[in-house]
Amino acid sequence: MSEAAENWTVLRLINWTKDYFARSGIDEPRLAAEVLLGHVLSCPRVALYTQFDRIVEAGHLSAFRGLIRQAADGEPIAYLIGRKDFYSLTIKVTPDVLIPRPETELLVDAVLDYARSRGGEPLRLWDVCTGSGCVAVAAAKQYPTLTVLATDISEAALTVARENVKQHGLARQVRLEQADLLTLPESAERFFDIITSNPPYVTDAEMEQLPEPVKREPDAALRAGPDGLEFITRIIHNASDHLKPNGLLTVEIGFDQAERVYDLLNEAGRYEDIRFGKDAAGIDRVAMAHTISD
Ligand SMILES: C[S@@+](CC[C@H](N)C(=O)[O-])C[C@H]1O[C@@H](n2cnc3c(N)ncnc32)[C@H](O)[C@@H]1O
Repeated sequence: MSEAAENWTVLRLINWTKDYFARSGIDEPRLAAEVLLGHVLSCPRVALYTQFDRIVEAGHLSAFRGLIRQAADGEPIAYLIGRKDFYSLTIKVTPDVLIPRPETELLVDAVLDYARSRGGEPLRLWDVCTGSGCVAVAAAKQYPTLTVLATDISEAALTVARENVKQHGLARQVRLEQADLLTLPESAERFFDIITSNPPYVTDAEMEQLPEPVKREPDAALRAGPDGLEFITRIIHNASDHLKPNGLLTVEIGFDQAERVYDLLNEAGRYEDIRFGKDAAGIDRVAMAHTISD
């Protein structure tokens, strides 16, 4: 991309970048090109479609060139633009947090289904391993009488989550605290109606095979020991101590973990109605269970 600025229209830039990204192995290369160009030009991606003939001026071109290089080098697009859409909300992200994934929206669906089954009454949710706070924020936004405790071991992640809570006007509904898994923060009430978690669940072996953009996400948000079940096992064992009878535990799991997670929930002896939610590819990605109601 070395020619003079006046030769580069929006459409030409999109097409050139799409081809370059495709050769660099970037997923959905045209979408990535449009997202980055929209970011540089400070306009929504779809607005580019009404300005295909616009000449991109030198300052913007230079900024765009810098982002293209970083993306081709493996930097995730969401980190480059500082945000990711989740449950139709814009969530701020930095390299201190995992980039929210579409399958994690299943956790929010599970919360809302459960809330409906309880007739819309006020409920208390604990979001364990909250990261950017995406699950806590989306659930609280959708369910105004939900009170949320959102915890993470990473102070840096909590700083990002705090900004998301503030950005979406949820400071009264969502409390953020540092905690190691289900260690209850001081002065928090002990019992909840719902516990959600998207914990780390990638095995040590899988960590070696991750694509470059995923490697740029925090190791502590992904790595979960030799079998990937280190955190999920602890959550299943401890969550029932903090759930009311007939409370909901819902946990995101790896693509091949459903059978083992079913066994863990079953063997814990404190859950019933164990089931799974499927992602867009039809794979079980979210475990759900109710605490036994005596
Ligand atoms: C897979 S990310 C999920 C983030 C967010 N909930 C999401 O769905 O995008 C896992 C999170 O767990 C946090 N974490 C790792 N070990 C933890 C621990 N022992 N206690 C609490 N949080 C932990 C990481 O800091 C990271 O933010």
